[in-house]
Amino acid sequence: METFNNGQLSYLLQPLRPPPTLSPRCVIRPHPLIMLSEKPNEIISFLHKLKPPANLLKQAPPSIMSMREFILYSRTGRTDARFDTLKEAGRLDVVYQCILMSIFMSHALRRDVTFHAILGGPPAPPLELVVDGVTLRDVHVDERTWEDLIRNALSGKSHPGIQIRKNSLQQLVKEKSNIFVLEESGESIKTIDLGENPVFVLGDQVGLPKKDEEFILRYGKKVSIGSRAYLASSCIGIINYILDQRESFD
Ligand SMILES: C[S@@+](CC[C@H](N)C(=O)[O-])C[C@H]1O[C@@H](n2cnc3c(N)ncnc32)[C@H](O)[C@@H]1O
Repeated sequence: METFNNGQLSYLLQPLRPPPTLSPRCVIRPHPLIMLSEKPNEIISFLHKLKPPANLLKQAPPSIMSMREFILYSRTGRTDARFDTLKEAGRLDVVYQCILMSIFMSHALRRDVTFHAILGGPPAPPLELVVDGVTLRDVHVDERTWEDLIRNALSGKSHPGIQIRKNSLQQLVKEKSNIFVLEESGESIKTIDLGENPVFVLGDQVGLPKKDEEFILRYGKKVSIGSRAYLASSCIGIINYILDQRESFD
């Protein structure tokens, strides 16, 4: 059982079972509210409704929530807001599809995921687009919504949970730990130890540039979800599913 205080409210977090992993299954009792759930997303949505919200979970002890991160390298993704469609913007539609599979569930957002895309297209590469599942608000699943959100972010407008910053793939990787490069020829995801809070790096429709892949492999390992080449977005969906299964049946 754990407690934490966000400055205004105290929370009592009581694992329903002895936690073999960093699972967020908890009973949460900020008086007078009581919430009982085994579903991490329900708990996290509940916490967000309590306010003060945005960085609440970041203040929580790390044992409350296991995080996942996806980093997509979009070699042609446009780095300004001058485009008509995501597809014409150096295949930003691939970035949108990856955001969808990273963050969205049925009627819920994955609060335990952060998605990053490194945009390598003209006119100002490299830029990092970050979509933070913890703080993301007011979004829908359709492509038009994300076309507007990405265009606005690239024009410097702010939206909760969406951020643009100057950053390269190599610099971003140096900021992370527990890194896995997704590649067909890697070690099977069935046998590899993913540890805590894994970070997965994926190539776009073309794949990762060789020199970046070699650099990242100094910090991480190759992991495969099978011998067939899947869409980057499918890989993210499959990994989310595999990690969900592990959390559900641990
Ligand atoms: C559409 S694939 C790129 C295909 C590209 N022709 C290539 O050879 O890299 C996009 C990314 O998804 C990931 N990927 C696709 N299939 C995979 C698999 N079976 N196992 C692991 N990662 C995979 C890789 O990171 C790849 O760079």
